[in-house]
Amino acid sequence: MSALFSPLTIKSVTLKNRVGVSPMCQYSAVDGVMNDWHSTHLGARAMGGAGLIFCEATAVSPEGRISPGCTGLWNDTQVAAAAAINAFIKSMGAVPAVQIGHSGRKGSAAAPWDGGASLADDAGGWPTQGPTDQVFDPDGTRLWKQPQAMSEDDIHAVTAQFVAAAKRALDAGYDLLEVHAAHGYLLHSFLTPLVNRRNDAYGGDLRGRARFLLETVEAVRAVWPDHLPLATRLSAHDWIEGGHGIEENIQIAHWLKDRGVDVIDCSGGGATPAARASIGERTADQVGLAGQMREATGLVTCAVGYITQADQANALIENGTADIALLGRAMLDDPFWAVHAAQALGVDPKPHMPHQNHVVA
Ligand SMILES: Cc1cc2nc3c(=O)[nH]c(=O)nc-3n(C[C@H](O)[C@H](O)[C@H](O)COP(=O)(O)O)c2cc1C
Repeated sequence: MSALFSPLTIKSVTLKNRVGVSPMCQYSAVDGVMNDWHSTHLGARAMGGAGLIFCEATAVSPEGRISPGCTGLWNDTQVAAAAAINAFIKSMGAVPAVQIGHSGRKGSAAAPWDGGASLADDAGGWPTQGPTDQVFDPDGTRLWKQPQAMSEDDIHAVTAQFVAAAKRALDAGYDLLEVHAAHGYLLHSFLTPLVNRRNDAYGGDLRGRARFLLETVEAVRAVWPDHLPLATRLSAHDWIEGGHGIEENIQIAHWLKDRGVDVIDCSGGGATPAARASIGERTADQVGLAGQMREATGLVTCAVGYITQADQANALIENGTADIALLGRAMLDDPFWAVHAAQALGVDPKPHMPHQNHVVA
């Protein structure tokens, strides 16, 4: 059996293989509610044999969306739509997961195909929030909103929204929950010294900057059942002078582990326009960070970044770099990537293929 197609049990959840669909915004929800697009997009990849199917960055509040088309988990209509999709994913033998997040100062943006520019409040946008009132890209050609610096009450309110979203994620049937603390969105913008210039209890040194994330994860863990895995996505490297490297992120991961996090999803970049982007060919060299994270913390680790080939993904698991290989763009290119990878590795693909007689009514 190849390492990539061996099962993995985390708490009470067993993945049939180590191939995961990385969370990817679809910008296609209406009022945060998933629809046929999401059902088809996620369902196809579950049919395609991936063991773990991440739903996109899903906002904990309307203001926490990146764009008006982002998915949400702040009301029961959104739960019902997600529950139907998750039932189908499970019937395919895959595990449905969701990444809950808040966009912070990178929110209120148009979808990429509409240019991605900041949306005015009277044009479908909303006021944004951040650790300070510093704009994401003051000198860029693309306009970004000036965020409001968050008060301690604002911070506590967002933590409560994460908790409410976690409860809804459980109601929706997700089996793995991930807190999004990467890519320059709200929780990462508090973590990194590139953005967080506060000097109160939520700023200052690493412990202060991590406080918002740690309090949020602790509160989420208290409502997310012990038997289900909890993950956090970190930008394991800011890839720019003055930002965090892997050492600071390993320290953060130790604190997360103490609060009951089971899985660290090692992404990178996105904090500032000058920092490396979280998507692109250069993400390939962030894969090794997962190995350092895994070795230092003993946590289950996801590697992500330009994983495209079956033998490449298999080697990551085999040599101990990661426990799960997450794929983004390769999964957009080929929903049946997992079955094709099994074939390429000489593994019997049948156990990883859909069981049509298990389809929910
Ligand atoms: C269309 C698209 C949407 C994305 N949306 C998210 C997201 O919602 N949350 C997230 O953490 N990363 C998001 N990402 C980043 C991917 O999860 C992944 O980390 C990145 O694309 C690198 O992996 P890849 O080289 O396999 O594409 C997105 C990437 C793409 C291409």
